[in-house]
Amino acid sequence: MGREFDRLFDEWASTYDETVSGVDPEYAEVFMHYEHILNEVSAKVSGHVLEYGVGTGNLTERLVKRTPKVVGVEPSAEMRKITRTKLPSVPVFDGDFFHIPLTDYPIDNIVSTYAFHHLTDEEKEKAIALYSSVLVPGGKIVFADTMFASEAAKLETIHKADAAEYRRLAEDLRTEYYTTIPFLQALLDKHHFSSTFKQLNAFVWIMEAVKVKQP
Ligand SMILES: C[S@@+](CC[C@H](N)C(=O)[O-])C[C@H]1O[C@@H](n2cnc3c(N)ncnc32)[C@H](O)[C@@H]1O
Repeated sequence: MGREFDRLFDEWASTYDETVSGVDPEYAEVFMHYEHILNEVSAKVSGHVLEYGVGTGNLTERLVKRTPKVVGVEPSAEMRKITRTKLPSVPVFDGDFFHIPLTDYPIDNIVSTYAFHHLTDEEKEKAIALYSSVLVPGGKIVFADTMFASEAAKLETIHKADAAEYRRLAEDLRTEYYTTIPFLQALLDKHHFSSTFKQLNAFVWIMEAVKVKQP
């Protein structure tokens, strides 16, 4: 479950850091303000942090400057290799959004950038329910990812990608599991989180969800 993208990311790992710098015109808007987006996420956390989909460790690098208690989870072996080279002291486990590494301390924050859309909406709910059960009260989920204000906004973005002949981008938007803010907000309410959303570029929003009540 949730591991169907491993081969894609193994193949992408060696050139991923070039892509996020905006060299690929199809993805330039998706990765616009990439550094700022990662900084915004890391500025919101402290204490013991669990990061999902660490990729090449770009968010991880920022997190370890704020707190030494960072643990990562990443399903692509090639991505894990790059992060381990950049950050040999950070434990990065093989796993997906459902893997909770065994630690001897409670988890204060769960973070991720550009990765949550790899879960179907059904899987997203399972993940949020799981995080509600493991986070300390007052703990937070902070995820930045492509999401849409509505289904209509998503369709319009796909039409724009088609019109620009951005075929790879249009295909991604159609086939990966990009969701809407109202959907996420309802899930978070149901699982005892108070949430806010802020747009950071044409595609990416930051979702901050504070656990308000023990389930
Ligand atoms: C676009 S990259 C983002 C990497 C990094 N977080 C960043 O912001 O640059 C998406 C990452 O999510 C990982 N990923 C894909 N499916 C996943 C899953 N089901 N659970 C956790 N991570 C996943 C990929 O292997 C990849 O490293």
